[in-house]
Parts: sequence; C-alpha cells; structure tokens
Amino acid sequence: MIEELKQLKDQALAELSAAANGDAVEAWRIKYLSRQGLLPVFLEKIKSLPKEQRPEAGKVSNQTKQEITDAFEAKKDQFTGAANHAPEDPTLPGRQIDWATQHVVNQTIDRIVQIFRRMGFALATGPEIDTEFYNFDALNTPADHPARNEQDTFYVDAPADKTGRYLLRTQTSTVQIRTMQTQKPPIKIIAPGRCYRRDEIDATHGVFFHQIEGLVVDESITLADLKGTMEYFFKEFIGADTRVRFRPHFFPFTEPSFEIDMARSGATVKGKEWLEIAGCGMVDPNVFDNVNIDSKRYTGFAFGMGVERLAMLQHGINDLRLIYENDIRFLSQFK
Ligand code: DAH
Repeated sequence: MIEELKQLKDQALAELSAAANGDAVEAWRIKYLSRQGLLPVFLEKIKSLPKEQRPEAGKVSNQTKQEITDAFEAKKDQFTGAANHAPEDPTLPGRQIDWATQHVVNQTIDRIVQIFRRMGFALATGPEIDTEFYNFDALNTPADHPARNEQDTFYVDAPADKTGRYLLRTQTSTVQIRTMQTQKPPIKIIAPGRCYRRDEIDATHGVFFHQIEGLVVDESITLADLKGTMEYFFKEFIGADTRVRFRPHFFPFTEPSFEIDMARSGATVKGKEWLEIAGCGMVDPNVFDNVNIDSKRYTGFAFGMGVERLAMLQHGINDLRLIYENDIRFLSQFK
C-alpha cells in the first residue's frame, strides 16, 4: 500500500511539473485532487486496511497529501499572472498607486524659498566643497579667529590644478561672498544648501544639515529692513501669532549681529517660551571690502537659519536623526 502510494506521488509530481500552462494545471488538479481524483480515491482504501496497519498508513498518506498539495499551490502561483486569466472586472474601483513624495527637508526648503520669492528674493547657490577663503577668510574670520573653533569641519585635498585648503562648507554664508564677487548691488538673494560640521551626532546635531542664507545689499538698507523681513517670514512660515525678538550676539561677518528667537502664544518647547531660530546682522564693512563693494555707499543685512530646525518645529519632530534614517513609515507622513 505504502509503495503504491509512493508511485502515485511520483507520477503526480512528474505530471505536475510537466504542466505548461494554467489549463494543464487545472486538468491535473481534477485528475489528482478533486473529489473523485486519484489521490482521494486511493486514500479511501486506508479504511479497509487491517486495523494494525492503519496508523502507519494514515501518517504516510497525510504527508504525501501535504507534499502534493504544496507542490500544486506553488505551481498554481506561476500561472496566476494576467496572461493566464480573464481580465479583472473593469467596473471595479481603481487601485491607488503610492507615488513617492518629496523629502521633508526639500519640502521645507521649497516653502521657505517661496515665501522669500514673494518678497523679491532671487535664488542663489554655491558648492558644498569650497575653500577656506570663502568659508572663513572672506567672511572676516581669519585663521586665528576663535569663531573657527565652533565650526570644525572636514578638510579635503585641493584639486590637482589648485592650491589652498579645501573643506566641506560649514555654512551657506559662502554664497554671500560668491554672489557679491559676481554681482553688483542691488543684491537680494536667498541661498539654501547643505552644510557640514564635525559635531557629535545627537537629537539636534548631525554631521550635515541644511541652512538657508539671505543677503540684501543696496543703498540705505537698515536694521529696520532686516527686522521687517524676518518678522514677515516667521509669521508666514509658522503662523500669524508668532512673535520674534532680536538678541545681541556675535558673528564675524555682521556688525551688529543678533540671534532671532521666536515664540508662539501659549506654546513652549522643552519648557522654554523662546526658541532660538536664526542668526542675522548688518553686513560688516570689512566683508564689503573683501569683495570690492563700496562700503561707504552700500549697506546690507544677512541672515542664516537651519532648515531641519524649522522642519522639526513645523511638524513637531523631536529627533533630527529620524529625518535621515530613510524609514518610509516616517517619511511618508509628509505628503
Ligand atoms: N552662518 C551662521 C552660522 O552658521 C549663521 C548666520 C548668522 C548667517 C548671521 C548669517 C548671519 O548670514 O548674518 O552659524
């Protein structure tokens, strides 16, 4: 009996693997597995075996049945493609395809840029690998300046045909210099981009991040223009109930310099009402001298802010690292 069963199995599996299309598999199913098929009919015979042989025969036949049905399921799946079946009911509702979305950082950059474009700012860009000159010296930060300590970065070899120290820029302020070297005032630009620093990675620091830089240069630009522009921006970006305050600070390339804090009525972040959100100031005349712009005739303001910080604020994200882990469950929340 067991021997016969084995033969039946071998024959069934051989025929199954020879079946070349969905119809052949279906014919095979009827032959072997349907109610009157060879396998059930054969297994019926177990009942008529002498009692002492039944347990062993039952066990083997269950195993065999399982093997055959598994093989059938696997084979069947090969032919479930559209080519082997009538088309689905065309009156069924359509299936939605999940399109990829823009990364939350780029969404934030686009929103920021849009707001500034409405105020007449033009878009400017600069390289991420830049020279020490653009990142520090031209920005009034000579080699021995203590402000360099706070912005340690990654240095790279100069290209074969160039000299000087090359580095991954620590700030988008480099674009201020590049723009002023090639354009004469009036200048009104916004420059988003990636920056790098040798920081310890934690919930609010990464080795790279994005900044948005702004620069306005013209005759008779004053601190009032800077304040008005920043206030308008934060009210547009965060909400009409946003308040901003300017706190005196130091940046090498602006004088006077400020940090901008913002607050929303009733809201606190980590128990604090005011959140530090950007740096800004009036362009230092030394910077104008470095790019041959007449510092007697022109004045200007500049500002820089962190994009991730604004994205975290807008969406209530509490850990910067989430933004770069590329977990689709996280990223797909920002459509
Ligand atoms: N570059 C500064 C930083 O990374 C931010 C900044 C401050 C930019 C003041 C500016 C500015 O343009 O005027 O810390």
